Amino acid sequence: MRHIWLDCDPGHDDAMAIMLAIFCDDSHLLGISTVHGNASADNTVNNAARCLYAFAAPQNVLVYPGAVKPLIRPARHDPEIHGIDGLGGVQGLPSADHPDVVARLAIDKQGRPVKAIEGIAKAIRDVWNDGAGPQITLISSGPMTNIALFVSVYPELLGGIEEMVFMGGGVGRGNRTPSAEFNILCDPEAAQIVLKVPVRKTMIPINVTHTAIVTKDVLCQLLCPGSVLVEGKLPPASSNLRHMLSTLIGYFADSYKLIFGFMDGPPLHDALTIAYALYPELFSCKRYRVDVELGGAHTSGETVVDLRGYYACDETWGVTGKNCIVAEKVDAKRFFGLMLDCIARCDKV
Ligand code: BDR
Ligand code: CA
Repeated sequence: MRHIWLDCDPGHDDAMAIMLAIFCDDSHLLGISTVHGNASADNTVNNAARCLYAFAAPQNVLVYPGAVKPLIRPARHDPEIHGIDGLGGVQGLPSADHPDVVARLAIDKQGRPVKAIEGIAKAIRDVWNDGAGPQITLISSGPMTNIALFVSVYPELLGGIEEMVFMGGGVGRGNRTPSAEFNILCDPEAAQIVLKVPVRKTMIPINVTHTAIVTKDVLCQLLCPGSVLVEGKLPPASSNLRHMLSTLIGYFADSYKLIFGFMDGPPLHDALTIAYALYPELFSCKRYRVDVELGGAHTSGETVVDLRGYYACDETWGVTGKNCIVAEKVDAKRFFGLMLDCIARCDKV
């Protein structure tokens, strides 16, 4: 059993990460914090709450709003990929003002929102209990502003974190510039702060996420388990949930086809973080030194990975030496099996 906190910017693939975090067998989802990124912070907090309600998450899993902008730079969003509100084209999700969606937002006794870093701090205190209990796994599937703020404000709670897992970066490639991936590009300074934190970290870069493609065959099983494509045609959805998820994947697929030329389907980037946290055996990984380029006329936001091994291993995971495990390969077939199992469980709730 892993005690998981998810910091995200939903986002179509973040929504699937939320689904896995709720329904994977070995997951105990403590809470969700949201950050600017794919859409404005107002949209991402609402989207997370809409997903929790739509996926029938346990009532005690709440959403905590976080940073509305990066540490230093102006905010940038990605309507081209995710639509204006971050979950463009998804049919069947409840609206943000639905009372059961509003009930998913964490508020204090005075009725004010509880902020992301306070939610993470409380979750660690409750679970870890100053070393008397287990540690948590802190997962990030958006820009790392909240995580950087958390580690800066609460360094005394780092001992309560077993591992940080983040989707972001690339090894020698980018997706929003020739060298930078979107999550890191949004807030490079935050990512660099996190990479220097003395906690075990794993990065899931686009080199790996681009191999987890929701093909037509996967979509066929998502729509109606056990069905087959007849003359390439997809079956109708066998439930409302499956219809909703197929519109989510469909929109994401269209974006990826149009903007990036992905003809076989979209990569489900963020959901891989949850799979890694719970089932690392699905991945091949290696430990490297990783830093983020903060200047650079052409390379700002690039993750610089020391493939050559100029840095040696040490035990700090932070300022010196190899500070990050980097995923290099995923068993996509088993990953999608896991995702389909989670959807089947959600469908029964
Ligand atoms: C990342 O950027 C967003 O589009 C996705 O949600 C994912 O977190 C991929 O570069
Ligand atoms: Ca994301």
